[in-house]
Amino acid sequence: MALITVKELSLGYDNIEIANNINFSVSQGDYLCIVGENGSGKTTLMKTLLGLKDPLRGQILTGDGLMKNGIGYLPQHTDVQKDFPASVKEIVLSGCQSHCGFKPFYSRKDKELANENMEKMGITHLKGRSYRQLSGGQQQRILLARALCATRKILLLDEPVSGLDPEATYEMYRLIEKLNKENVAVIMISHDIDSALAYATHVLHMGSDVFFGTRAEYLESRLGKRYLETLGGGEIA
Ligand SMILES: Nc1ncnc2c1ncn2[C@@H]1O[C@H](COP(=O)(O)OP(=O)(O)OP(=O)(O)O)[C@@H](O)[C@H]1O
Ligand SMILES: [Mg+2]
Repeated sequence: MALITVKELSLGYDNIEIANNINFSVSQGDYLCIVGENGSGKTTLMKTLLGLKDPLRGQILTGDGLMKNGIGYLPQHTDVQKDFPASVKEIVLSGCQSHCGFKPFYSRKDKELANENMEKMGITHLKGRSYRQLSGGQQQRILLARALCATRKILLLDEPVSGLDPEATYEMYRLIEKLNKENVAVIMISHDIDSALAYATHVLHMGSDVFFGTRAEYLESRLGKRYLETLGGGEIA
């Protein structure tokens, strides 16, 4: 059974629809890229999958032992986050919050998990540093370690490479790919269509037309061809 199955989902705010007819599923080991124009509802979809927002209509089913609070999330970058006044360790640990509910402390197991994920992301040496004094690439790796504390099954990444230089971008994609190879399913929103398609197994295109299918099906689809042409891409085999 799939980890997440979405059926006839319609999204919006204050009953005003911004996206509809969304159908897709994500299984263990999948790498789903969500593409589409600004304002097409990609971030809203992620918030809805996380249960932070109700859909207007439709269903989100979880399976394969996935709980709603067992999803790791790396939110879309904002300037406010960039200045967050906390240490690296505190930020990574806060990813464990869904495990301990509203308890105002972290268990030894949480601390071990945070250490393990900092090690995986190569940020252990930054542990005691202030988050806001670090580079964009370092900050994104910290947020990825944080997201990993909430899950071993599925990560939702909202534009994880936005604002990063080419080297930091490559490093971020490499880390995400490594996690995916270790069987963590990935749902990633990206405007970097060429790289997104280099890694994706599946594509969800949002907008006035909606497409969901494998990467190969997307590259052959009318919508995929048109979108790649508009962006000047299409070099992907
Ligand atoms: N809290 C909110 N209240 C009302 N409308 C909102 C809210 N958040 C987003 N919207 C609107 O919903 C639409 C979709 O926004 P969303 O952030 O999901 O788009 P997106 O596809 O992630 O865009 P981008 O590529 O720019 O990140 C936009 O028209 C936006 O103005
Ligand atoms: Mg967005």
